[in-house]
Amino acid sequence: MIVDIGGGTTEIAVISLSGIVQAKSVRIGGDKLDEVIIQYIKRKHNLSIGTGVAEVIKMTLGLPIEGAEAPKFEIKGSNLITGIPATLTIDPHEIREALNEPISLLIEAIKHVLETTPPELSADLVDKGIVLAGGGALLKNLDILLREETHLPVIIADDPLTCVVRGAGKVLDEIKLLREVTIQS
Ligand SMILES: Nc1ncnc2c1ncn2[C@@H]1O[C@H](COP(=O)(O)OP(=O)(O)OP(=O)(O)O)[C@@H](O)[C@H]1O
Ligand SMILES: [Mg+2]
Repeated sequence: MIVDIGGGTTEIAVISLSGIVQAKSVRIGGDKLDEVIIQYIKRKHNLSIGTGVAEVIKMTLGLPIEGAEAPKFEIKGSNLITGIPATLTIDPHEIREALNEPISLLIEAIKHVLETTPPELSADLVDKGIVLAGGGALLKNLDILLREETHLPVIIADDPLTCVVRGAGKVLDEIKLLREVTIQS
């Protein structure tokens, strides 16, 4: 199974013998995570922050493990009531709370694809597990959470941000394989 978590969408697919067996695309990706962080901080702290700040928060904190110590994080934005620039110290666990809904939906979608994959492939899935690709694969502790939720091995692809482009290059080097993958008999 490959899960490519991009900016706009996440593509989930089970691939066997060069063919896609089961797949699902969901409109949840890194941009959505930035958006829910912005909304959460607006609602909870009356602070308006830019997308860039939200992205830094996401990349720095990710999904803090419940109960674990996590350093507090200082952010800057503008106060929604006074309009004056302000600084806020956020607790990383708040970010976990903010990301909860989109991450749960993502995990649900992954589970749905697993549930609808033919049982003949179960043994392979148990052995090979899930490969995470795309920038979202770098979200801290997402791999751990997914392992807990699915009980399958979860591997982050090497340099997840460039895997799609490197994979496309590899497949172009092997045009015969591309033909097998793209031409349906
Ligand atoms: N360390 C990180 N932690 C969390 N998210 C990250 C990290 N690094 C990059 N991202 C996020 O990954 C996303 C970009 O990933 P990627 O380049 O795979 O997307 P894309 O291929 O352009 O989008 P799509 O596949 O939806 O068209 C952005 O939302 C970015 O914030
Ligand atoms: Mg992509």
